[in-house]
Amino acid sequence: MNTLIIYAHPNPNSFNYAILQTTVQKLQQKQHEIRIRDLYEMNFNPVLKEDYFTKQNPAVSKAIQEEQMHFSWAKQLIFIYPTWWNGMPAILKGYIEKIFTNGFAFTFTDEGAKGLLQNKRAIIFQTTSHPENYLKPYQLIASMETIVDVGILNFCGIETITHKFFYSVPYVDENTKKAMLKEVEDIVEMI
Ligand SMILES: Cc1cc2nc3c(=O)[nH]c(=O)nc-3n(C[C@H](O)[C@H](O)[C@H](O)COP(=O)(O)O)c2cc1C
Repeated sequence: MNTLIIYAHPNPNSFNYAILQTTVQKLQQKQHEIRIRDLYEMNFNPVLKEDYFTKQNPAVSKAIQEEQMHFSWAKQLIFIYPTWWNGMPAILKGYIEKIFTNGFAFTFTDEGAKGLLQNKRAIIFQTTSHPENYLKPYQLIASMETIVDVGILNFCGIETITHKFFYSVPYVDENTKKAMLKEVEDIVEMI
């Protein structure tokens, strides 16, 4: 199975990096074909400027087309990122702005918008520092899920099978972190 990992964390000592490693190990055991887009390691420039895409200017640069080919290749997408200001880090937001272009990821028909990345499934691993009992009553989890799972992925035809939050990451002990990484394994095992 072709699995594309989109990873957005600058620090190789982070818990997000441990999630990445656990995910890769599990996918290797399952003999998936894996590609990793490590956005910080790639030094990805997230600012949509020269590549700004409109109907009047439909050219997509070669670099973006090459990035899009990874999504065409993949059957499964795994996003791994921390919560920064109640959403994804800007580098990942900019990546999506640049890669999920009109005509590649979605189009508009007489019946309305149509996702073009059909038959792909996504898993999201997202960490927080706030506890669940702060984030949920304010609907911050629901809003992050809606924006990513519905507003971005489903809009492009991708089905989110799991959007897993790991809460209070900087404050939990080592055993809790181990249990979280076991949950990562169990989720990756399902796919
Ligand atoms: C710029 C920035 C913004 C952040 N905003 C939030 C936030 O809105 N909500 C939250 O729960 N944690 C927030 N955090 C904390 C991170 O989500 C947390 O440290 C991270 O998920 C822990 O995983 P890590 O060790 O892999 O970085 C923020 C951290 C940074 C650096």
